Amino acid sequence: MLTSLKRIFSGAKKLNGEVLVTGGTGFIGSHTVVDLLENGYSVVIVDNLSNSSIKVLDRVKEIVGDGPYENLSFYDVDIRDAEELKKVFSEHAIKSVIHFAGFKAVGESVQKPLEYYDNNIAGTTTLCRVMSENGCKSIIFSSSSTVYGDPDELPLTELSPKKPATNPYGWTKWMIEQILTDLYVADNSWDVVLLRYFNPIGAHESGLIGEDPKGIPNNLVPYIAQTAVGKRSEVHVFGNDYDTPDGTGVRDYIHVVDLAAGHVAALKWMQGKTGVEIFNLGTGAGSSVLEVIKAYGSAVGKEIPFVVEERRSGDIAQNYADASKAQKILGWKAKRSLDDMVKDSWRFQSKNPEGLSD
Ligand code: NAD
Ligand code: WQD
Repeated sequence: MLTSLKRIFSGAKKLNGEVLVTGGTGFIGSHTVVDLLENGYSVVIVDNLSNSSIKVLDRVKEIVGDGPYENLSFYDVDIRDAEELKKVFSEHAIKSVIHFAGFKAVGESVQKPLEYYDNNIAGTTTLCRVMSENGCKSIIFSSSSTVYGDPDELPLTELSPKKPATNPYGWTKWMIEQILTDLYVADNSWDVVLLRYFNPIGAHESGLIGEDPKGIPNNLVPYIAQTAVGKRSEVHVFGNDYDTPDGTGVRDYIHVVDLAAGHVAALKWMQGKTGVEIFNLGTGAGSSVLEVIKAYGSAVGKEIPFVVEERRSGDIAQNYADASKAQKILGWKAKRSLDDMVKDSWRFQSKNPEGLSD
């Protein structure tokens, strides 16, 4: 049986169509799993817990309740392990895959390129091979606005050119988009959706799940959150001499719960279709580093200390999405404001000052 599979539990029934979520205990994956369960889907998570905690599953249960939670299975499996993945497919009737699993730290990818290429790219090719062998050719992939590089024009539409990446992480997103596109060219029965996320932040409004980075956070909002809770003394603002309204970098921050809803909308839309479709998932509005720090301070009720430093190598001045294609075709639109994002981030951080680490 499945003893070697390190299956923690299996509640999902072999229904006519389950959704496999790789990386489903991670930040974006866990919020998407909640939305899927609340929408009546049976969900199978494959995650090797390299960047997430098993405790996320208890939190998901608390959010969705016992009934929907029965439709969830979890496997502690590495997506590069074809044999273990095959066993998962043999146990379930997987209809579609939402593929989050991968490493995501830009700076670390420069130090450890082979680890990033292996985990992200070999992980994806192994997954697709096993999917194909099992007649499952429907995949939603977590891409990133990083594929647009330093934009010539804003807002970014899906037709804006892809630019060469500036780090191995970015190249993995760039290449996986290409690999999945080539897969469709070779076999027109594939159905591929590439979702290009802008800057996901925030947390579930329950404060039970959220972003839980290991070590020193690389991204702005987790760093602010840890400063607010007293784990860090001040936020380092990377440059205030950009050509932006206040000189600091501008990004399109999107609430992770809105982002999760974008996946459910894409999943519903893609059923029965074939092809490759790209969607930007952003709000369409940019916020500067100083605006985010100020908004976070308002949510906390005290000012967040910061110091201005040199620009971070590889950073761009600004980017934000034109997300109208997702609205028109998927009927999806981000609803939550920056204030909602920082309020929910703070609720998660203050309820879980040490994160969910085991
Ligand atoms: P995350 O690290 O919280 O989640 C990724 C999950 O994948 C983790 O739970 C990790 O344990 C798991 N994982 C990694 N390698 C695996 C492997 N080989 N086998 C099985 N599981 C594995 O990251 P996230 O922020 O939730 O991001 C999810 C996806 O979205 C990633 O592909 C990331 O590159 C992409 N993305 C993230 C952002 C962002 O800012 N968070 C932006 C754009 C795109
Ligand atoms: C946002 C802004 C920084 C930290 C990265 C990846 C991208 C995507 C999302 C996955 C910038 C400034 C940051 C800090 C700061 N991930 N900043 N002090 O760089 O837009 O995007 O995460 O695909 O690929 O590159 O996000 O949160 O790191 O930075 O001043 O401590 O905050 O300069 O202007 P970024 P970020």
